[in-house]
Amino acid sequence: MLLSYSTEQSNPAAGSPALEVKGISKAFSQRRRVTKVLNDVSLRVEQQEFVSIVGPSGCGKSTLFHIIGGLELPDAGTVQMNGQPVTGRRGQISYMPQQPALFPWRTIEDNVLLAGEIKGQPQDAAREEARRWLGKVGLGGFERAYPHMLSGGMQQRAAFLRALLAPQELMLLDEPFSALDALTRAEMQRWLLELWEENRRSVLFITHNIEEALLLSSRIYVFSGRPGSILHTVEVPFPRPRREEITDAPEFLALKRQLSLWMREEQAKGKIPAVTP
Ligand SMILES: Nc1ncnc2c1ncn2[C@@H]1O[C@H](COP(=O)(O)OP(=O)(O)O)[C@@H](O)[C@H]1O
Ligand SMILES: [Mg+2]
Repeated sequence: MLLSYSTEQSNPAAGSPALEVKGISKAFSQRRRVTKVLNDVSLRVEQQEFVSIVGPSGCGKSTLFHIIGGLELPDAGTVQMNGQPVTGRRGQISYMPQQPALFPWRTIEDNVLLAGEIKGQPQDAAREEARRWLGKVGLGGFERAYPHMLSGGMQQRAAFLRALLAPQELMLLDEPFSALDALTRAEMQRWLLELWEENRRSVLFITHNIEEALLLSSRIYVFSGRPGSILHTVEVPFPRPRREEITDAPEFLALKRQLSLWMREEQAKGKIPAVTP
């Protein structure tokens, strides 16, 4: 750490992780009942790294995203981006929520342009860039269509594109494919992998799908049940560029088995024991 500071003095952000979350804890109180949701979570995303979080439902993953995005304040802990403290600050990230959340009254192109508009990017250049990308992701010809005219997968691609074209470097993707059928999901995974490999961004990705996490990520954080804490950190060893075929490799299958086992154990802990007569 010291070394990277002394050699990178001209640009303190270089060498710092895109995101560093340290010791985050959070509880919600409702009608005198306190629910502890996150317990001492620390993780990082290096520059241009793809990192995933997997964990049981309700363990605080979306809450962690809200904290990173500055929508919620943690009870303890800090958030840093590029070495700068940003705890509680909004506008630092590009965020794709669990639902595609396209505005129904805006065309696909205008939805994709939204992030640039908020930031005050010049209109013409932004529109041209949006059109180029819409063509690239198979939405050419749908620029003037409205969201309801598109399939679920196409809406997801548009929502993803909006996050991708946002000027913030760090993308947070909250289960972006969870509402899709298996075939569309596989297609979207391939698409995201290709897109990310040619246009590297720093990404923190929440998913329930272990295979998806292994295919896409450099590192995976496995969360416990609520209150969410990090149970395991897995460095994914497969070289890049990756292709879908790696999902058949013995090393891939072994890691998948290990992660599935951890997830099943965690999920089983959260279950109320069955009532036996
Ligand atoms: N604003 C809030 N007020 C009260 N409870 C909340 C709030 N946001 C989330 N929770 C609770 O925190 C827990 C974790 O939720 P969430 O972060 O959405 O989990 P996950 O995304 O892992 O499924 C849930 O029990 C949820 O009901
Ligand atoms: Mg969630």
